[in-house]
Formats: sequence, structure tokens, C-alpha cells
Amino acid sequence: MLLQMENFKDKNEMYAHMDSALAVMINRRDDVESSLANASALIKMYYMDDVNWVGFYLYREGFMMLGPFQGAPAVTRIKLGRGICGEAAQSMRTIRVDNVKTCSNYIECDASTMSEIVIPMINRDRLLGVLDIDSPISARFDKVDERGLEKIVSSLVRLIYL
Ligand code: SME
Repeated sequence: MLLQMENFKDKNEMYAHMDSALAVMINRRDDVESSLANASALIKMYYMDDVNWVGFYLYREGFMMLGPFQGAPAVTRIKLGRGICGEAAQSMRTIRVDNVKTCSNYIECDASTMSEIVIPMINRDRLLGVLDIDSPISARFDKVDERGLEKIVSSLVRLIYL
């Protein structure tokens, strides 16, 4: 990872830096999938330590379909409401799980995953998909990560879809 957390004063500064990097990298003329592929790589490679999966599920007619990601192979199709991704998509709310092993609605893709955060991608009340980030350590994501990643998702929707 080229950037380490110690490069930043705190998580807020790290997310602000990530937001600026995405704005520089994403080109409106590129395909959605290409932009999301680079976004997942930038997030996982350069900014977030202790994560083992970063990727997107895109909404298609009642299902979340696997989109661009970095990490282990994953389930390709999730019915709305199923799994943490399907629940976050259906409720259009961010879901943070400190210990996925105790979560009844969890779908396991990587046995090493211990905690997860899923942020819905919404444009004018229309569900586009979710950003899903997994970590091999418990309780990896706090309220600062939640707010920072919600801002990142909002920027991605503006940069890629509007
Ligand atoms: N854990 C997710 C499924 C996606 S894999 O983690 C990449 C869920 O419960 O929806």
C-alpha cells in the first residue's frame, strides 16, 4: 500500500485525500464499470488498511449483481433484502457489522472476513447499488468511517452517474 494511515493526521484527513484522488482519477467519459473498477482499486490499495474486500454490487431488477471489486471471488447475485448488501440496498441505509459471524443475515464470501460495512449508492431516491467493504478484523469500521465512506459514495455517484 503506497499510502499508510500514518501519512494522515486522522481518518477524516485520509477520507478527504481519497475523495480528492477519486475526483482527479475518474473521467466522466469512461464507462461506469471502468470508473468503479479503479475506485475499488484506489480505495483498497492506497488508503484503507485492514480490509480484504472492496467492491460494488449494482442493482438490477430486484437483485444486487456483482460489479467491480478487489479481493476474493464473491457471490454474483444477491436478492434485495438478503445478506448485508441486500439489506442495505433495500433499506437504503448504511449497515455496519462489527462481527459478521454473529449476523444471521450475513452471506459469507471470504472466511477471513470478520467485519463489514455496506453503503447504498443512491441518485435522487433511485437505488444504483452498494459499496461493500470487508475486514479481517472485528469492529474495523466506526462512525468516522461510516461518515467518510458515505461522503465517498456521494462523490462517486456525482462523478460517475450525474
Ligand atoms: N457479505 C455480503 C456478501 C458480499 S461478499 O462479502 C463480497 C453480504 O452479506 O451481503
